[in-house]
Amino acid sequence: MPAVLITGANRGIGFESARQYAADGWEVIATCRNPYACKDLGELKVRVEQLDVTNFGAIDTLAKKLERTAIDVLINNAGIFGGHDMPDQTFSAQDLDRWPEVLMTNTIAPFAMARAFVGHVAGSEQKKIVTITSQLGSMALGNGGCYAYGSSKAAANRVMVSLSVDLKDRGIACAALHPGWVRTDMGTERAELDVTESATGLRRVIADLILAKSGCFFNYDGSERAW
Ligand SMILES: NC(=O)c1ccc[n+]([C@@H]2O[C@H](COP(=O)([O-])OP(=O)(O)OC[C@H]3O[C@@H](n4cnc5c(N)ncnc54)[C@H](OP(=O)(O)O)[C@@H]3O)[C@@H](O)[C@H]2O)c1
Repeated sequence: MPAVLITGANRGIGFESARQYAADGWEVIATCRNPYACKDLGELKVRVEQLDVTNFGAIDTLAKKLERTAIDVLINNAGIFGGHDMPDQTFSAQDLDRWPEVLMTNTIAPFAMARAFVGHVAGSEQKKIVTITSQLGSMALGNGGCYAYGSSKAAANRVMVSLSVDLKDRGIACAALHPGWVRTDMGTERAELDVTESATGLRRVIADLILAKSGCFFNYDGSERAW
């Protein structure tokens, strides 16, 4: 039975991905900041572990706790836009004090997870590490604003390219994935996709990911995105 570890699995895309993998018979390690506050996860057949991804010591502690567990797929899903109190991120409104927290969560944490869990992934059958980034990290989009979030996802894309090079010898395939614009707390109810469509697509892209495609940026529907 393959195993998947998903960060930020208590709601949104992370929760739906955990639900789908568990329904498919995967061993699911669902991490979240506050396991006691997420009743929904408790109702799934998953192993729940507490993890704030910005607590790098806690990442290492969890990796040690799971050291005998092979992890076929590591999904860095946890992310923040920057808080509902700073939704605009326009040239004039961008909050400088909150920017580092966005980088910690969206960019540095996926790297810290990859480094802590590289042995677990290398010891598995499938050997895949993916990060849910965003089209808002793409230079090709050419939009203004979105300073904190966009830069954090662009940098996360760059992290995934470096990981694809550095982990190739260990047979690990890495990719950055855009989940679409999804109706979650972050995506808002105006978004185009529901979580089921997004997670179903992401799981298909992950299933199709091979070493020869490592270092790519994929849309949830499998098409490649421009950086
Ligand atoms: N929805 C979209 O349209 C969209 C588009 C592009 C990319 N994305 C990306 O997709 C991923 C999932 O987003 P979503 O739409 O499902 O958002 P969401 O509903 O807001 O869920 C975000 C998840 O990340 C967790 N999280 C945030 N900071 C964390 C931390 N420090 N440690 C651990 N968990 C943390 C949250 O946990 P708490 O409940 O504890 O806050 C929550 O489980 C994110 O990386 C996001 O940037 C989403």
